[in-house]
Amino acid sequence: MDIKISKTTTPKQKPDQNNLGFGKIFTDHMFMMNYTEGIGWHDARIEPFHDITLSPACVVFHYGQVMFEGLKAYRGEDGKTRLFRPIMNARRTNSSNKRLCIPELPEEMFVEAVKAIVKVDEDWIPTAPGTSLYIRPFIIATDAFLGVAPSKTYLFCIILSPSGAYYASGLKPVGIWIEDDYVRAVRGGMGFAKTGGNYACSLAAQVKAHDDGYSQVLWLDGVERKYIEEVGAMNIMFKINGKIVTPMLNGSILPGITRDSVLQLCRHWNIPVEERKISVYELLEAQEKGTLEEVFGTGTAAVISPVGKLRYKDEVMTIGDGSIGPVSQKLYDTVTGIQWGKIKDEFGWTVIVE
Ligand code: PLP
Ligand code: COI
Repeated sequence: MDIKISKTTTPKQKPDQNNLGFGKIFTDHMFMMNYTEGIGWHDARIEPFHDITLSPACVVFHYGQVMFEGLKAYRGEDGKTRLFRPIMNARRTNSSNKRLCIPELPEEMFVEAVKAIVKVDEDWIPTAPGTSLYIRPFIIATDAFLGVAPSKTYLFCIILSPSGAYYASGLKPVGIWIEDDYVRAVRGGMGFAKTGGNYACSLAAQVKAHDDGYSQVLWLDGVERKYIEEVGAMNIMFKINGKIVTPMLNGSILPGITRDSVLQLCRHWNIPVEERKISVYELLEAQEKGTLEEVFGTGTAAVISPVGKLRYKDEVMTIGDGSIGPVSQKLYDTVTGIQWGKIKDEFGWTVIVE
């Protein structure tokens, strides 16, 4: 792919690495590429970070034809820049695209674009413990047309944001609200795709959960409203009686790349793993019997996030002693160790940006 690079002449000041938060600061440059029916993807370019001008009639504003991805670049102690399994993000892009009638983006183009923009803004990758450069690729439908139909033109962008922990509490266990009224997705819908609508429809429950002092929402299935699905920005796992149990990929949850990595690690360590339906009543029962040993979320932004409290209707389940559990800690250390190049990458997950 031929990428035209125009660099900024007014670089911004780099932020304080100890106070990054998540997704608030953007680097000097962005990647852009257009799609036009009959031509395909064209005009790959890296430009100074800027606002974009679009017709107010664009399909994306009205009907939400959009997809996005999330991955990170890590700067190791060896000075090397690593990506974590970017090919999985490229594959998931096309799975989202297919569901949303967005044209396919060749996997190698996706990875090349990510590497190119990260290389240009490499000196923005923070090095303070727990920080990284969050990468947000997205595709929007740009036809100016109010009829409901797939757009014939698209814009693919990648923006970068130096970030710290997703949750302000860091590795301190968070409280999660099990939502019993709103639902996020149903099979046949677009729950497995990474698209704006799934997040827009999560906001009302999230506001309710926040008002009650909980960090995020845990969704139940949209039909029987009793099987665990996933959390707003992460997949969820339970350690019950020595086994790691997580909802199977059923079409209504996001197939998380961290989820897949964690399951592979657990199997490698001979920890029994089950991907299956889990009802909220099974959790309540396990809690009562004292076998609900650990609960944690997995995600690119969230990494491994321990859960210390789960609320379902009038019941509040307190998990562990208010600190991260041993398996969650081992997973956190291993996943981040591989990402930062501190631990040997036996799985071939990391890709060096050269
Ligand atoms: N589930 C949802 C709804 C998410 O937004 C995310 C974040 O990307 C995840 C799960 C975790 O996916 P991954 O591990 O690929 O980041
Ligand atoms: C990610 O972890 O990459 C996500 O997309 C989560 C998010 C919605 C902030």
